[in-house]
Amino acid sequence: MAGNKPVVWVSRPTFDSEIARLRPHFEVREETREAKFAPAELAAKLAGCDAAIVGLKERVDAAAVAGATRLRIVANLAVGYDNLDLAALVAAGIAASNTADVLNESVADYAWALLLGAARRMGAAERWLRAGQWHATEFKEWLGADVRGHVLGILGMGRIGQAIARRAQGFGMPVLYHNRSRLPADVERECRARYVDKAELLRESDFLVLVLPLTPETRHAVGAAELAQMKPTAVLVNVARGGIVDDAALAAALREGRLAAAGLDVFEGEPRVHPDLLALDNVLLSPHIASATTDTRRAMTAVAVDNVLALFGHGPHAGHPPNLLNPEALAVVARAPFPTREEPTR
Ligand code: GLV
Repeated sequence: MAGNKPVVWVSRPTFDSEIARLRPHFEVREETREAKFAPAELAAKLAGCDAAIVGLKERVDAAAVAGATRLRIVANLAVGYDNLDLAALVAAGIAASNTADVLNESVADYAWALLLGAARRMGAAERWLRAGQWHATEFKEWLGADVRGHVLGILGMGRIGQAIARRAQGFGMPVLYHNRSRLPADVERECRARYVDKAELLRESDFLVLVLPLTPETRHAVGAAELAQMKPTAVLVNVARGGIVDDAALAAALREGRLAAAGLDVFEGEPRVHPDLLALDNVLLSPHIASATTDTRRAMTAVAVDNVLALFGHGPHAGHPPNLLNPEALAVVARAPFPTREEPTR
């Protein structure tokens, strides 16, 4: 605690209008540039604060919070939270939150941008034009694939997957999906999506979009064996997480014509990108920006701020952080030196 205010650390520059809402209640320590903190640096940052707003670059595990005796909440500036060790945070009595929902539509839009861009070879065409190679265009040059009437497959049918499926109606595409659990019939109807097993999804999809969280079970959910089941004309889109796809196996399939194209926003070990992918023209690449619109990134910041405020008994959700990932931690948080106005409940 600095003076009589708790301290919140914000690990990256974000939207001032939202961070300002913290200032009446917290001393705000905001990083002024993007940085990748080494584990010891991260631990030192966390050791000095009562709350933290972090991004995916920050791996918050048992070692990171070992000395963070005052830390009560880690608010992730992302919907995915594979960077947080929730069990370690529960053990340390630290709440965790994410930014579920506010980014669904932006990410769904971006998945379509990658899908269409990869299908129509937009990355390669733009590179060609910029390289001054446009002297004349052959009628049969730059041929891509139509989407209308072709099958859209979605692996991972949470709210982002559903938003992607709804857009398929406008493109005249039948939708298949696979998910850990089947959706209720009314949601399937609204999305006009048919549940199939994973093998059928791989076999039947002309365009396959990945929107599942990265967990030990989903690591390399699309590897060499799965790619071998896909149509050689298929296009793969990943807006979920690097690591869900085996990037080396994907690059080999794209190089050898066993898959037509890919659109990738996420990579194993990013910001490093597998050099074999960089060498290919039939893959459209972007630097993990599917949620990056002004409105959505501002909304994500607002959600993180709301969760921090709530845990400390302030704001519209006082006492009840709305995006809590580990409610079990609250029993410990409730014994913290900053009791909420209203005791948090599970
Ligand atoms: C971005 O990848 C997120 O999980 O929000």
